[in-house]
Amino acid sequence: MIQSLLLPTHKVAVIIFLLHYVIKTFLLLINKPEALKKYTAGTKVAEMIISVVFLITGVWLIAETGSPSTLQIIKFTLVALSIPIAIIGFKKGNKAMAITALLFIIGAYGLAEANKAQKRKGAANATVEATGDVVTDPAAADYNSIKHGEYIYNNISGVPCKSCHGTDGKSMVGGAKDLSVTALDKEGIKSVIKNGQNNGKMPAYSSLKPAEYDALADFVLSLKK
Ligand code: HEC
Repeated sequence: MIQSLLLPTHKVAVIIFLLHYVIKTFLLLINKPEALKKYTAGTKVAEMIISVVFLITGVWLIAETGSPSTLQIIKFTLVALSIPIAIIGFKKGNKAMAITALLFIIGAYGLAEANKAQKRKGAANATVEATGDVVTDPAAADYNSIKHGEYIYNNISGVPCKSCHGTDGKSMVGGAKDLSVTALDKEGIKSVIKNGQNNGKMPAYSSLKPAEYDALADFVLSLKK
């Protein structure tokens, strides 16, 4: 499945790219023009391949989301700005420019990591504001747990489920799983929602009410066709 490889591929490319630029900047800073020249020549093809993979997977990931988030736009802008600055910086042996380019790339990386931590915290404290037209009391005669679950799925505070799984459960943003083909049963789904999964990639929504976990699980199961 290409989508599930997209994010890991992007991450590996970003890390290699970053290491590569750290090495180049380091050689420039310690005044080793000969070593820098040798290293640059030796890694020219690899650098081209990794840059292309880095950019294509990045743009692809942004396209996957439908409408890019502010964070994605900032990351993209930082990286896009860093490229000409790095090229000119290394060409002229300008240390300030080389460092600026490196800081831009590290900044984009740091923003992504900070956002991840933010998402986890948001999910842990997420709550659902009740609305007038969705019945949220399981004891009510006209209660429909799937409708209740769908409301939570789309409107929960912090990061709503739909932003990773899509309104139909089929979107796989950030390595999210296609919910319409889940093999989990109701208890399994509730447990994933409550405890998270895969090191917080699926954030833990630990502050919901029992009826809300039930409703969410019923809605997720209703996505299976
Ligand atoms: C930040 C993105 C994100 C958000 C928001 C999110 N998920 Fe997930 N979800 C994931 C990822 C990533 C996985 C896959 C984790 C793994 O690799 O095991 C996942 C997995 C799941 C699974 C397990 C599917 C399976 O078959 O293993 C369920 C169920 C699920 N999510 C439901 C929800 C519900 C319900 C919400 C909202 C309360 C939600 N998710 C919000 C990213 C997200």
